[in-house]
Amino acid sequence: MEAVKIGVLGLGTVGGGVVNILKRNAKEISRRAGREIIVTCASARDITRERICDTQDIELTTDSLEIINNPEIDIVLELMGGTTLAKDLVLQAIDNGKHIVTANKALIALHGNEIFVKASEKGVMVLFEAAVAGGIPIIKAIREGLSGNQIEWLAGIINGTGNFILTEMRDKGRDFADVLAEAQALGYAEADPTFDVEGIDAGHKLAILASLAFGIPLQFEKVFTEGITKITRADVEYAEELGYRIKHLGIARKTAQGIELRVHPTLIPAKRLIANVDGVMNAVLVQGDAVGPTLYYGAGAGAEPTGSAVISDIVDVVRVLSGDPEHRVPHLAFQADAISDIPVLPAEQIQTAYYLRLSAEDKPGVLADVTSILAKHNISIEALIQKEPLEGNTRLPVIMLTQTTLEKEMNAAITEIEALSTITGSISRIRLETLG
Ligand code: NDP
Ligand code: HSE
Repeated sequence: MEAVKIGVLGLGTVGGGVVNILKRNAKEISRRAGREIIVTCASARDITRERICDTQDIELTTDSLEIINNPEIDIVLELMGGTTLAKDLVLQAIDNGKHIVTANKALIALHGNEIFVKASEKGVMVLFEAAVAGGIPIIKAIREGLSGNQIEWLAGIINGTGNFILTEMRDKGRDFADVLAEAQALGYAEADPTFDVEGIDAGHKLAILASLAFGIPLQFEKVFTEGITKITRADVEYAEELGYRIKHLGIARKTAQGIELRVHPTLIPAKRLIANVDGVMNAVLVQGDAVGPTLYYGAGAGAEPTGSAVISDIVDVVRVLSGDPEHRVPHLAFQADAISDIPVLPAEQIQTAYYLRLSAEDKPGVLADVTSILAKHNISIEALIQKEPLEGNTRLPVIMLTQTTLEKEMNAAITEIEALSTITGSISRIRLETLG
């Protein structure tokens, strides 16, 4: 059979990784796909730049339209990033009857609903395994491997850059900016790294996972996001003392009222496997009613781990090219006419436990005032530690762990506690999940 021809939009970290793997493992990949796969053309902004891959047999262009309008191309890989040009090119390529493989989570989270409608009209596939958790085949796991389950919740470390920063800061005491610069040099970070450190990238990925898990439309705008920039060394140390690790988690949970979608730093019991996922590694814990808890672990970013996921999608497309289009796996795991409108809950209705750190005056009655405010809001304290004041300081750091409560009640309690004259500054609040 004739070779399948690929056109690549963007030949940077991921594009370069894909080309390298396709070349190195060509034989093994075509044994799986049933056909030879070749990259014939690729676009980049500057085609004179040195690449991480060999481009000898690839026609390079700065004009991506040349690729999507090329009748020879069967599959377009969108690996350039962004949501403006990338969206226009993907929609145009679909119009031209091309199958799409992308690693672009922002594109899928923001415009996936529209893209999938167009793809269904045109009868082409749009696959995005690399968009979540780099090399971990989490999308196929949820979409196919767990299709017999009602998924109850999932929680994941789904940003490699953020986890790399937190790990280096905790283990080596390194500076935030310094580690971020290294993550950028290693090709882990987004073009705009605030997406990584402010939780936006993880929010995009969570929106995708939640759609696949619960059969709901992509709704990034409803994801509550909080980044890692406010975590202090003191919080990391106090958490460890209490038997917890701080990880940046994306959590999606189905409740009787609706679906929680949230990304934030989270205390997790140190003994949980996921609490020990370090560096650029990612992990996703999925709880299904039939299978129970399952955990998926692997590199969350980088050229070849991400390339591995992109190629798994290419192989799926190639297999289908030779099969029956009616039996394709649906874009969002559920059949398009079975997508449900279960509401996504507003942040105030999230239910979780909390770690609180406050700075209190060292005199009788202060803690009683704090605990009575918590009690008024039905918030029970699980643990409380009062530290010695640092030298030359009359204020005591007080650390509390609470039981599960409504975010709305916690917001109100924090406002009241911060207004006490005996409490200085703002309260540091980190959500806590036992993931049991
Ligand atoms: P890079 O910045 O390394 O590569 C982007 C590529 O796109 C570059 O080759 C760039 O050209 C090209 N490009 C950008 N704009 C244009 C344009 N207007 N016309 C033609 N080419 C263009 O990004 P990554 O490879 O890191 O990321 C690509 C996508 O994969 C993003 O959506 C990202 O979120 C996603 N992703 C990245 C992962 C990673 O580990 N890096 C992991 C998972 C997903 P030039 O080289 O000339 O600048
Ligand atoms: N910037 C992303 C991360 C790339 O660090 O996780 C992988 O999606």
